[in-house]
Amino acid sequence: KEDERPKFNLVQEIASSINDSNQVPERYIHKNGYQQASDSSAPWMDQLLIDLSLLSSSSSPAAAAELQKLRSALTSWGCFQVINHGMTRSFLNDVLQVCKEFFALPLADKQKCSGAADLFSGYGNDAVIAGNQILNWNDRLYLTLYPEDQSKLKYWPQKPKKFREIVREYGMKIKALPELLLKAMARSLDLEENCFLKQHKEQGLTARVNLYPRCGSPDRVLGVKPHSDGSTITILLQDNQVEGLQVLKDDQWFKVPFIPNALFVNAGDLTEVMSNGIFKSTVHRVVTNSSSERVSLAVFYSSNSDNEIGPANELVTADRPCSYKKVTMKNYGKLFIECYPRGQRTLNALK
Ligand code: SIN
Ligand code: FE2
Repeated sequence: KEDERPKFNLVQEIASSINDSNQVPERYIHKNGYQQASDSSAPWMDQLLIDLSLLSSSSSPAAAAELQKLRSALTSWGCFQVINHGMTRSFLNDVLQVCKEFFALPLADKQKCSGAADLFSGYGNDAVIAGNQILNWNDRLYLTLYPEDQSKLKYWPQKPKKFREIVREYGMKIKALPELLLKAMARSLDLEENCFLKQHKEQGLTARVNLYPRCGSPDRVLGVKPHSDGSTITILLQDNQVEGLQVLKDDQWFKVPFIPNALFVNAGDLTEVMSNGIFKSTVHRVVTNSSSERVSLAVFYSSNSDNEIGPANELVTADRPCSYKKVTMKNYGKLFIECYPRGQRTLNALK
């Protein structure tokens, strides 16, 4: 019974029903436009390109230099791209392909994966909470990868045929990465390597498959408004044709290029909390495009809802007093839902 499913304002449906940029509904429009990205490019090909195989290797000079690079990327940008993560380019292309094919299905097929009251499950788009909220030009599919017994198979598309198998395989392959990174992040600050990892009693991985339809008014519409993530770490597989992601540093926006074989990694708010503000939770946004749609697949690493995350004791000193309160993931989630639609940062509510 299709009609009983929740009625989202699916952006894909809106986009295909309008043929003139003036018809983009007002609630998606940033009336004064938005600040354009900087002409200078970020150091994606050197300081912000991390070789994962070096991070996990033992104490060679090259490994120590890579660790130093990781620390500097996270303290100044809060993000980087990783290579040598063990997945082939053709596999990553297959993952993007099934994501594209899912969004190309007829609406009724996609709506079989729609969530009910649950904000972070299934097909749809972000909840409208504040009356004057400017909406994102984005539809998404949320899937729980781990713990597996919470993966709620009803939200997992049965079409395209290979979707479940490929996305599950991607989840299995990506699982080791946040753990490896969290250990390296601790070592880069001369902490015991499990210092951050051990705060995550039970680890959770959630996938968000994003679609950004073509938009007739790209200068005034954002795919995703500026935000930082409610995760510890986010790993993003970007569209291999169309760029759109941008990160904020020192009040300037920088484009994030697609680098073949690389995955984009950003620290989320809980990393900024655990590191007592040393590592930055990157503020980022997605711009729209008038000629091509774009897909991406974000995987969020976090922990179970009653787990409490706080600044590591070792990082709270006389010189650096405690910057953030401890928070359970459940309470963080509540704050996020209050802050994000209003364009506020959840981190500020934890100060
Ligand atoms: C996001 O981080 O909110 C989306 C990233 C992307 O689609 O590039
Ligand atoms: Fe994000």
